[in-house]
Amino acid sequence: MSRAAMAYHPDPGRTIRNTMTASIPAAALPSANGPVAAIAFIGGGNMARSLIGGLLRRGFDPAGVRVVDPEPTIRAALAADFGVRVHAEAAAAAVDSTLWLLAVKPQVARTVCRALAALAGEARPLVLSIAAGITSTQIQRWLEADVPVIRAMPNTPALLGAGATGLFASAQVSAAQREQAEGILAAVGTTAWVDDEALIDVVTALSGSGPAYVFLLAEAMQAAAGKLGLPAEVARALAAQTCLGAGRMLTESGEDAAVLRARVTSPGGTTQAALETLIGGGFEALLASALRAAAQRGAELSRQADA
Ligand SMILES: NC(=O)c1ccc[n+]([C@@H]2O[C@H](COP(=O)([O-])OP(=O)(O)OC[C@H]3O[C@@H](n4cnc5c(N)ncnc54)[C@H](OP(=O)(O)O)[C@@H]3O)[C@@H](O)[C@H]2O)c1
Repeated sequence: MSRAAMAYHPDPGRTIRNTMTASIPAAALPSANGPVAAIAFIGGGNMARSLIGGLLRRGFDPAGVRVVDPEPTIRAALAADFGVRVHAEAAAAAVDSTLWLLAVKPQVARTVCRALAALAGEARPLVLSIAAGITSTQIQRWLEADVPVIRAMPNTPALLGAGATGLFASAQVSAAQREQAEGILAAVGTTAWVDDEALIDVVTALSGSGPAYVFLLAEAMQAAAGKLGLPAEVARALAAQTCLGAGRMLTESGEDAAVLRARVTSPGGTTQAALETLIGGGFEALLASALRAAAQRGAELSRQADA
């Protein structure tokens, strides 16, 4: 194949579920006039702020957002930045909301749900939880109601609108509710559904923890280039841009990673020399072990939440 033929060509014809660049169908966005009267964010931290910002940028009415957080400075900042209603008590926000978005740390999820149990059976909201490791069954048990629950596992780049989120819906969730939840998470990046809740632990191991693997790769590349004589700031800039550029090729070209890799690996060339060293040293097996360890840890954390 000629060099020109092997060059990188974004393929606009291919459908990629990259919702950062694609627009979400209007029906999928929760609407203050539609089936979601209001969304109650339980927890107003980093993730809630990103999701609220993403929703409002996509046209969701701030009058349809309530946020609960115990910290007055957080409440004041959210009200000032977004014009949303803020509350110190969960019940005050949840009472007239059809969607409860659980965005607290996993350690406080049980307490928060127990405080809302009296309301849950009556209100029967859709509960959308981003609390890592907390299962849909735990949420239903703590709320003392078999309410529909969607678990979402976003990752840190969601804070920049470049997240990757895996979603799972419990049996009680309707098709419309799946669309609503997807519309919310799509406001901060790409989404993908899994149909077995245990696979959320694999999502956590892949995309939830994944940014840290890329950061480690960048660190190791920088350090190695430094040892070969490259000034630290040059190594840092080139390593970071390489991660960004390779990520963009993965999301925008529509090609598999293996195809992209093959295209930049000329027989007998520099890349091949490096890849043979990596693969010969057990790179792929090591990553497989790393993901297995992360998935197992995710499952353990779920069990601990009940202890
Ligand atoms: N950040 C990520 O990249 C990421 C990725 C995947 C999943 N998640 C999950 O998303 C959830 C939120 O993460 P985050 O990074 O946004 O955490 P965060 O910034 O700590 O936000 C949690 C917020 O909830 C508040 N809170 C504590 N107790 C509360 C209560 N009883 N009622 C209402 N609010 C309460 C906390 O207040 P105080 O600080 O005063 O306690 C804090 O402002 C976590 O479960 C995390 O596992 C996060």
